Amino acid sequence: MRYLTFALGKGRLAKTTLKLFEEIGITCEEMKDKDTRKLIFVNEERKLRFFLAKGPDVPTYVEYGAADIGVVGRDTILEEGRNIYEVLDLGFGACRMCVCGPESSGELLQHHEQIRVATKYPKIAKDYFYNKKHQTVEIIKLNGSVELGPIVGLSDVIVDIVETGSTLKENGLMVLEEVCPLSARVVVNPVSMKLEQKRIQNLISGLRRVITEKNTTV
Ligand code: PRP
Repeated sequence: MRYLTFALGKGRLAKTTLKLFEEIGITCEEMKDKDTRKLIFVNEERKLRFFLAKGPDVPTYVEYGAADIGVVGRDTILEEGRNIYEVLDLGFGACRMCVCGPESSGELLQHHEQIRVATKYPKIAKDYFYNKKHQTVEIIKLNGSVELGPIVGLSDVIVDIVETGSTLKENGLMVLEEVCPLSARVVVNPVSMKLEQKRIQNLISGLRRVITEKNTTV
């Protein structure tokens, strides 16, 4: 039996994923050592390997088959646009991709004006404005603290993730339009899906069962 390799998006996402995996009997003790400098962790008994990667790199590892399976946010999947299968919504990390700005920018969206859009997600923003709204916009790529855009006059609106809404509120901004809902997803390499269909399907079914149980007990 060959190893099945998992790429997990670093941080809270990986921690929640590993807890979920434990509930279906998949553990990786090596990974729990906080002081370790190792990058890859092995569960010999079940022939599984795990590694942590920066979120945007997870779809890359999965597309090239360096990882068979990945867990990453839907925002990253949409932005990276890789050739991978999205097979399961894990439900956690739920938030929304939205067009946000000051109330006054709402008008500009209604009248399809040529506006400036600041975002960490240029592909998602472009797809939304060009293909869904048929509105010509100028997209300005930023790498974080995107809410600054309209505040300092760089852009009219932003396309960004809204979770609790408190960043917007504290900065005098609001949701103007919703682009799409987001949450953590399981992605699979298309070739791995064929070659390791049974093992991967078992895993997905197990995860789906645990998620359904959680949802019905809430
Ligand atoms: C994300 C996102 C928003 C904020 C939304 O930023 O880009 O800024 O969280 O969360 P809220 O609705 O609960 O306030 P992140 O903390 O990842 O940092 P960043 O601005 O550097 O991207």
